[in-house]
Amino acid sequence: MQQGARKRHWTLADIPWQRFDASKVDPEILKVVKAAAMVEHNGRDYAAYLCNVFADDPAFQDVARGWAEEEVQHGQVLAEWARFADPAFDFDACFKRFTEGYKIETAAKASIRGSRSGELVARCIVETGTSSYYTALMEAAAEPVLKEICRNIAADELRHYKLFYDHLRRYLKAENVGRWKRLLVALGRMRESEDDELAYAYFAATEPTGARYERRRFSAAYARRAYGFYRERHVQRAVGMALKAAGLTPNGRLNAFLTRLACWFMRRRSAKLAAAGA
Ligand SMILES: [Fe+2]
Ligand SMILES: [Fe+2]
Repeated sequence: MQQGARKRHWTLADIPWQRFDASKVDPEILKVVKAAAMVEHNGRDYAAYLCNVFADDPAFQDVARGWAEEEVQHGQVLAEWARFADPAFDFDACFKRFTEGYKIETAAKASIRGSRSGELVARCIVETGTSSYYTALMEAAAEPVLKEICRNIAADELRHYKLFYDHLRRYLKAENVGRWKRLLVALGRMRESEDDELAYAYFAATEPTGARYERRRFSAAYARRAYGFYRERHVQRAVGMALKAAGLTPNGRLNAFLTRLACWFMRRRSAKLAAAGA
């Protein structure tokens, strides 16, 4: 590629929809795809929040807006696939239900992570989670169109990680945020994966009208399915990316230890939730 030239970003028209194979749709995967479509489609609200936090940094604001459009596109392509798999799926109604029940605090004037560097660490963790998740989902899925979609999204998520990581390095020069603090932000953001956002998205996307939201129940239902896709290689890569964002050696002994720990935790949690009928 010519230097400076940017590769055109893929669109929904690039997806080989004609290869869709209904016989290969896994109904459990369909549920998490519907939930992921909700969260991704909400990207613009995050951009609004980021533009407030980085109020005097127009270059980063541009990056945040461009990033959000790609996340929204992830939501659109996943919703489209879900409609192929389930023609009765009403994305608009589900998304309305999701955004009415789950709101992102867009009015904040400063990062809820204590600093801009902290905010960027948290963004790196989210992109770490999504890039490993879509890679794991791509490998777990048998339906060829979904595989292709996940491949595209996983590549975007990895690029998003790099984007936020570059800005993190820039901010670290101005802000004195040590590794310990960055590690705490990273761990805090990981813990939030079992908070309301994914649980509510799962509820809004899969439960019939009139059903009542219960965080524990839907967080468990989502976690059981999501954890089941991960293999050790996905976890190891994610741990490396998270350590790097915290300023630690990505692929050393700490990675090996944390990968084993995380795999053990995910297997145990997934088995417990399955036994409990989540
Ligand atoms: Fe995404
Ligand atoms: Fe992303």
